Amino acid sequence: MSARTIMFGMLVLAAPLAPLAARTQQATDAARVSEHGKDLLAQYGCGACHVIPGVDRAVGRVGPSLATIGHGVYIAGSLPNTPDLLAAWIRTPQTIQPRSGMPNLGVSEPDARAMVAYFYALTGE
Ligand code: HEC
Repeated sequence: MSARTIMFGMLVLAAPLAPLAARTQQATDAARVSEHGKDLLAQYGCGACHVIPGVDRAVGRVGPSLATIGHGVYIAGSLPNTPDLLAAWIRTPQTIQPRSGMPNLGVSEPDARAMVAYFYALTGE
């Protein structure tokens, strides 16, 4: 067998593994972002007002439980639940619901996105 044949054989064998590796990488990245989101929810103190499963001391009752927010149809009763709008709500609730009791906590865009990833990864149990 020539070296060329061996090289070709290796390429043919390796090619199907490339998309698998990419998918595994994506899944790992998504898990990392969502894990970061969980830490941020603790850091920003969201749990003072909300129940958030998996987040330390997140047992607040001022606002609604966020256990199933990733699976609900609406945010705050009227806003369609999409990643963009959920992130917007987290950053500036008053621009969406002027009389909302939820304060603007100065959450950055990437931080809000990571929190959204965590909410959508929650199973709601
Ligand atoms: C001082 C209390 C308070 C804090 C702190 C707080 N929230 Fe809220 N939050 C509320 C209240 C009250 C509501 C209900 C507001 C409304 O419907 O106008 C709410 C609503 C929400 C909703 C919509 C819930 C639903 O069922 O539709 C989300 C999502 C949310 N908060 C996320 C967060 C996140 C993320 C943080 C931290 C960055 C946070 N909240 C911090 C009081 C708070």
